[in-house]
Amino acid sequence: MALPPPHATAPSQWPPPPISSPPQYRAFDSTPAFPDPVQETPAWMKYPASGQRGHIIVFANEKGGVGKSTSAFHTCIALCNAGESVAALDVDLRQLTLHHALWARQESEREYGVKLPGPEQILLAQQNENELEEKLRMARIHHDFIIIDVGGHDSPIARKAIFMADTIITPVNDSFIDLDMLGRIDPRTGELRTLGNFARLVEHLKEPGMAIRPKALDWVVMQNRSRNFATKNERKVLDALEKIAPVAGFRLVPGLRERVTYRELFPMGLTLFDLEAIPELGKPQPNAREEIWAMLRALNLPSAALNKAIAPAAADGSS
Ligand SMILES: Nc1ncnc2c1ncn2[C@@H]1O[C@H](COP(=O)(O)OP(=O)(O)OP(=O)(O)O)[C@@H](O)[C@H]1O
Ligand SMILES: [Mg+2]
Repeated sequence: MALPPPHATAPSQWPPPPISSPPQYRAFDSTPAFPDPVQETPAWMKYPASGQRGHIIVFANEKGGVGKSTSAFHTCIALCNAGESVAALDVDLRQLTLHHALWARQESEREYGVKLPGPEQILLAQQNENELEEKLRMARIHHDFIIIDVGGHDSPIARKAIFMADTIITPVNDSFIDLDMLGRIDPRTGELRTLGNFARLVEHLKEPGMAIRPKALDWVVMQNRSRNFATKNERKVLDALEKIAPVAGFRLVPGLRERVTYRELFPMGLTLFDLEAIPELGKPQPNAREEIWAMLRALNLPSAALNKAIAPAAADGSS
């Protein structure tokens, strides 16, 4: 298709109108010794939802591009494969990566003439915290699990999702730049200087729900895109994460390794497990499948069906 001529935009149309109004929230102060990050307590923080059926898993990290949507998608499909009733909600309203993958999954079903397990997709029309709360309230009644993919930045809706979470999964890559939002490590001494803004945000949001939650919030930091042979830098990053973990209150688990196959299948809305139904798309990869199972086991999700399917004895692919 021919590209429009370079001067297609008339000068009178420049600058173009803003795409949408900027979000009205106060960004975190990034100075090391800032005061309590959120001084105003929104009304919803006083009334956390609890005692309902659905377990809310929120994939969040204020650092972008770390694998939140990729790991959210794999977890979502694994739970569906295990026969759990799952809802998927994308609050990264600009990208909608999780929803796009799930729509692509439906297209793949039509194209290859197969039926693949999938979640109910919940869309936000008004895109605000009240709507999120209302949709989650309903989703918790009807589903065993609700997967929420959060964008890589702070926003009121991101805070609300984190506040409602039973499990928070924070993927990180093996880079000190990715760690900054969790904690700042002195590059010379290797000691923890201060918690990062995202860690402070989780700390702030998890407290009000503690008395009411049936179980304590489980915050899991997951190493994504690791390589087969750990480099010196990866080792250092791991050491740093181990120092931050007890102070920030998360546990550290292995995630997915760096694999092209995840990038190739994602746009079609497929995981390696779907290759059994669509063998023309590629061979099963036992090592990668075992790695996905290991990631899921480490998440300790309250799903008897999933935990049975991914138990080590099933690692030969017989399940
Ligand atoms: N384990 C992996 N192996 C290979 N590529 C990966 C892996 N995990 C993620 N990627 C790639 O890294 C990029 C970022 O992944 P993804 O979109 O899941 O991150 P994100 O945290 O959701 O990003 P954003 O903050 O923009 O929402 C994508 O190109 C994705 O295909
Ligand atoms: Mg994403």
